[in-house]
Amino acid sequence: MLTSLSQLPQRKACGPKLAVLTAYDYPTARMLDDAGVDLLLVGDSLGMVVLGMPDTTGVTMEMMLHHTTAVCRGVTRAPVIADLPFASYLTPEMAVANARRLMDCGAACVKLEGGVGMLPQIRAIIAAGIPFVGHIGMLPQSVKEEGGYKKKGKTAESIDHLLADAQAIDQAGAVAIVLESIVPAVATQITGLVKSSTIGIGAGTDTDGQVLVTPDLLGSFPWFRPPFAKARADVAGETLRAVREYMADVQS
Ligand code: KIV
Repeated sequence: MLTSLSQLPQRKACGPKLAVLTAYDYPTARMLDDAGVDLLLVGDSLGMVVLGMPDTTGVTMEMMLHHTTAVCRGVTRAPVIADLPFASYLTPEMAVANARRLMDCGAACVKLEGGVGMLPQIRAIIAAGIPFVGHIGMLPQSVKEEGGYKKKGKTAESIDHLLADAQAIDQAGAVAIVLESIVPAVATQITGLVKSSTIGIGAGTDTDGQVLVTPDLLGSFPWFRPPFAKARADVAGETLRAVREYMADVQS
């Protein structure tokens, strides 16, 4: 299991694949860390699966700081990735200042969405000595501009963009790149091209690792689960059962 980001190149070369999960609170982070999960991501998906927002664009820096602090309190081993939320990295200066705030909460690295268009921000973060994780493919923070969540890598133009984005982020010095909702063959091609570790979600099985939104894995957010996410527990069902049993006990 991973104890430091410096082990990522060795894991890319020799395996095993990275198992990455999201965490938004202390108890979940502590359990995932104890279980040996390689990397924990305080994803801005928290806006949807914890705070009930329609998408991630309402997540603020204050929310990310609050949840990153809680997660880092629960972790003694796994490096924590913290998301820079929507509109928190409009300029390189803003990106560095907000990345520092997340690092001050205990994060090991920060992630933002975008490729070539975000290079000034990415380079500034890395130049400030902050380990960086890229995120390309389907970008949830752009859902309004894009008019929905769309798989990437289906056309020659889209493939060219993805390859250019991945190579730009890699050459800037990212430690890892999340590949979200990308045609599997393209994710495989990117994984072979870059030195950074690729972490896939809805991008096939041939990436250097996989990330899942933990409530999707646990079945604790029953109202929506993406088709590629296999629920391996039914926490929602078990919660309802326990609550009903308690109510029946109290009310009998
Ligand atoms: O916010 C998040 O949970 C993410 C994953 C979907 C990779 O960025």
